[in-house]
Amino acid sequence: MAKPRSKHVCRECAHESLRWAGQCPGCGEWNSLEEVVIAAAAGVAASARAGRPSAALIAAAPRAVRLREVVSEHRRRLRSGVGELDRVLGGGLVPGSLVLLGGAPGIGKSTITGMALGNLVASGTPVLYISGEESAAQVRLRAERLGPAALEVPVITETELPLIVAAIESERPAVCVIDSIQTISCPELSAAPGSVAQVREAAARLMELAKRTGIALILVGHVTKDGSVAGPRVLEHLVDCVLLFEGERERSYRTVRALKNRFGATSEVGVFEMRAGGLVEVEDPSARFVDEASNAPGSVVLCAIEGTRPLLVEVQALVGSSEIVPPRRVANGIDRNRLAMILAVLARHGGPALGGSDVFVNVAGGVRVEEPGADLAVALAIASAHRGDPLADPSGRPLACFGEIGLTGELRSVTHPDRRLAEAAKFGLTPVVGPPDREPIKGLAEAATLRDALRIAIRRRGPESAAA
Ligand code: TYD
Ligand code: MG
Repeated sequence: MAKPRSKHVCRECAHESLRWAGQCPGCGEWNSLEEVVIAAAAGVAASARAGRPSAALIAAAPRAVRLREVVSEHRRRLRSGVGELDRVLGGGLVPGSLVLLGGAPGIGKSTITGMALGNLVASGTPVLYISGEESAAQVRLRAERLGPAALEVPVITETELPLIVAAIESERPAVCVIDSIQTISCPELSAAPGSVAQVREAAARLMELAKRTGIALILVGHVTKDGSVAGPRVLEHLVDCVLLFEGERERSYRTVRALKNRFGATSEVGVFEMRAGGLVEVEDPSARFVDEASNAPGSVVLCAIEGTRPLLVEVQALVGSSEIVPPRRVANGIDRNRLAMILAVLARHGGPALGGSDVFVNVAGGVRVEEPGADLAVALAIASAHRGDPLADPSGRPLACFGEIGLTGELRSVTHPDRRLAEAAKFGLTPVVGPPDREPIKGLAEAATLRDALRIAIRRRGPESAAA
């Protein structure tokens, strides 16, 4: 039988099948199968695949080495000079690693990579910026805004993979940025640039290049509507590190988090603010968010944990009578399903029933909070908005809280209550309402249930408010 020359790979789940189908048999997504050419297997490896290896092949087979005898490479990390980025990377770029930096268009991917390369050049590290998206003049225009160091970065505008690989080989930088992976194409493949086949092939060859030469490669990638880096599964397996750049384009705050990191923790988050001179690291994001917190009804401060770092953010809610059925549920910065659950528990366990009201919840500053510890803040903000009564104490200090809400109305403990409290204490926001811990913690106003938490929050306002 003739060997198949091509296969079809799903863009979403990387399922492979020989025949094309409208719907992926793997994940059920429609129109997601793309044709990929199978390269003819050649050489010794191919003959090995064909049957029993020959004596010559057995003699040439790789030998196993005890891990203790493996020479460890204590290679120095390359610091990009962008502190928050280095922290998310686990202390800087590892030589020979492949990093994928994903984010929506206009979020600041080219800006942050431009800044990083500028800093590296300034510290004497050879770098290279390959732009497949913008002309050299456009890249220069951005660099002008970023300062003199960014103008020293050598740039190449090219989209063909073999030429890019050749350029990197000849320039031999220590760090190279390719902006973006979706614009790169291999002429041997018939698929369009940005397709799974192209992205995967380019990433695989660049990975090989990075490992062989010890160059740290940063691939910039656009994310699709649903928030995954294009060619998602395919690339995430391949690269050493996946960083995601998030935030709303209209807002100035941006966060960078690691979804995968072979050389560090995946829980770290860096916070930036987009300014006229590029991205500025926000070293003390809590201070910003607390300063901006209001003492109006519907506002509460959430003691969140982002990775290992505590972060205070303001959660706001607005409740209004609805003219439409079903009423609106708008959640910015938190999960919509989580909001639906919190509303159901509120209605059942001591809070308002809002079946006929529009409910809007917003995490201020365009931050996204993805931990269950945000539940209580959302519930208290909604309750406060509904009553039209602020939760700030009489002196105007906002209420701080954290805790996961269970379906039976209980408050469940979440990670690092001590760090959350310490951060709140730094800003004078004690006591903090939260679930009881195994040992009593100073500054915690313990609430075992949502009902308790609502009672504590209202009592804080003083006797006249509790009576209302
Ligand atoms: P950019 O880095 O080009 O985004 P991406 O590569 O992710 O598509 O820039 C994002 C936005 O940031 C752009 O609209 C302009 C703005 N910006 C500033 O506000 N200040 C600056 O110093 C720079 C360089 C860009
Ligand atoms: Mg860009």
